[in-house]
Amino acid sequence: MPDAEAVSRRAAGEVAALVRRGGPATVALPTGETPKGMYEELVIMSGQGLDWSGVTVFSLDEYVGVPEASPLNYKGYMERHFFSKVNVPVSGRHIFDSLCASPKAECERYDRLIAEAGGFDLAVVGIGQNGHVAFNEPGERLILPCHVQELSDDTILANRAVTETEARIVGAEVPARDGFPTHAMTVGMAAILGARSILLIATGRSKTEALTSMRDGTMTTRVPASLLQLHENCTIVADAQAAGGMQI
Ligand code: PGA
Repeated sequence: MPDAEAVSRRAAGEVAALVRRGGPATVALPTGETPKGMYEELVIMSGQGLDWSGVTVFSLDEYVGVPEASPLNYKGYMERHFFSKVNVPVSGRHIFDSLCASPKAECERYDRLIAEAGGFDLAVVGIGQNGHVAFNEPGERLILPCHVQELSDDTILANRAVTETEARIVGAEVPARDGFPTHAMTVGMAAILGARSILLIATGRSKTEALTSMRDGTMTTRVPASLLQLHENCTIVADAQAAGGMQI
């Protein structure tokens, strides 16, 4: 794709095609800088009559212990960029409860909800500069179900960018480095790989290395996105900067 706008249009087109198919549909959706353009496109389509009334959405991840008013909170992000502007039924808007008493129990609840929904028809995911998918961070092992994940320094640093933009939108201060949450709840690789189709979106030069190592024909938990190579229906949509000369 030539640029980020084209990636957003293509990603929105894939989501909209599923929604237009009619009947119930379950979609996993990401947060971060990359998908903002996709949400903008989807909101425009909603204004033109795209009907979300049969759609269930699972947000992929959420920090532990962050109130909704914080620019870090992903429920707030989803409300601002998407939910407040589309007619996804309130009962079909799922996101981990950041302030839950037991993040472990919350993860178990989320896995149960995903199972009850019959898994994802489509999982739209981003990729971290370190190769993470949702908040499945590189490591010796990956935990397959929804789980509480300790965040790497790389991820905390990279996520400052989106927090700064969100802070401007909500008129809040960006928390200091030591005020950033160290843990998040994330959908695990099991539910992501169990999706009927996966769409990975990536834009910008900072993603080239991660994209290269996720597509090199080897698989390692050190690059969680490399597991997506096993999936029969995984599409990568990247702009020219992220692709860095690769044929995608
Ligand atoms: P980004 O995050 O869209 O803010 O780059 C992607 C990710 O970390 O999965």
